[in-house]
Amino acid sequence: MLNDMPAIQIKTPIPGSQSQQLMARREAAVPQGPFHVTPVFAARAEGALIEDVDGNTFIDFASGIGVTNCGHNHPDLVSRAKEQMDKYVHTSFNVVPYEPYVQVAERLNELAPGDSPKKTFLVNSGSEAVENAIKFARAHTKKQAVVCFDHAYHGRTYMAMSLTAKTKPYKYGFAPFNSEIYRAPFPYLYRTPGSVDRTCGGSIEACPNTTCSCNTSFDAFKDIIEGQIGSDLVAAVIIEPVMGEGGFMPVPAPFMQSLAAYCKANNIVFILDEIQTGFGRTGKLFAAEHYDVEPDLLVVAKGLAGGLPLSAVTGRTEIMEAIGVGGAGGTYSGNPVACAMALAALDQFEKTDALKHCQTLGDALGDRLPDHRRPPRPRSNACRRAGHRPLDQSTQQGCRRQDHQVCL
Ligand SMILES: Cc1ncc(COP(=O)(O)O)c(C=O)c1O
Repeated sequence: MLNDMPAIQIKTPIPGSQSQQLMARREAAVPQGPFHVTPVFAARAEGALIEDVDGNTFIDFASGIGVTNCGHNHPDLVSRAKEQMDKYVHTSFNVVPYEPYVQVAERLNELAPGDSPKKTFLVNSGSEAVENAIKFARAHTKKQAVVCFDHAYHGRTYMAMSLTAKTKPYKYGFAPFNSEIYRAPFPYLYRTPGSVDRTCGGSIEACPNTTCSCNTSFDAFKDIIEGQIGSDLVAAVIIEPVMGEGGFMPVPAPFMQSLAAYCKANNIVFILDEIQTGFGRTGKLFAAEHYDVEPDLLVVAKGLAGGLPLSAVTGRTEIMEAIGVGGAGGTYSGNPVACAMALAALDQFEKTDALKHCQTLGDALGDRLPDHRRPPRPRSNACRRAGHRPLDQSTQQGCRRQDHQVCL
């Protein structure tokens, strides 16, 4: 049992010899594209710990990129998946439907923010869910344009990649991208001189600080829609409640609320990409709960099934019914084993104090991490570290927007 051992145990130089040998085989057999942030190979994992093939044990702060929110190999999740495997592993929901898919849909319809009647469609990855959210939005509105934001990350398939902001490494050399995608500035309070940290929830209209990027970004968003596209031609606006890959910056509440209101007023489908923020990552089941907004479409993946590939688009019934019979699907969409594991993961959030635990850990880290803050660095280094110290105001004023974009 890994959990019986001290959290960190380093027995060999890192990487150890077994990991080095596997890396040599990996380099011979696998192209360089899929990167690694650590040089060690996993042997087993449990809770928050990973043991590598050389017997070293680490705390896994990455959680498989925000996936194993209930911990590695949670016994309830694993036993539900095994139980399902003993019954059947795959029939394809498009050929022979099965109850676990319906159960996950029912649970997500119930749990998703807002009171509107909802339906859920399941697929495999976050990117695939983003792709489908755009399909639902376009089918419903019969419009084409999609507005996304600076620094956004929505995935790597073509529509998702087109919505993603950063070129290297995600988009470089892969053009042409999908058309009818427009990018608006993100209210990046940390890197915009004159901004203030506004979590007040007040309305943008009433805000006296016209230089705050909450205000200027919302003006720019409206200018893009009304000046460049035409508000009657926009199908969807998509945003991450906390910009993840782009620097772990929460959307300021006034901006989020103004965005939702603008979309409602203009028959634009408001899509929240909660692939990374969902299932406890912000202390609530969904980050939308911090903003008191109801997305028209909620896109989730990662923590949904605690480690098996499963993603979902949950949205207002009228939008979800806009695609005709056979217009949405896929061979593996909503795999029954992944669904069984998702049901067990949802139980953890609903029936235990897992969310409270997330909040406690978040508060403890929030209290203690500032003690480890380093003194301000020269501009370029400060910029490079922006993603890891999003709330450090000490370097904010010295960094112009262009510097950040060049060196992050
Ligand atoms: C906000 C967000 N959207 C979309 C994706 C893409 O998900 P996937 O890697 O499962 O395709 C990610 C993955 O990191 C993400 O963080």
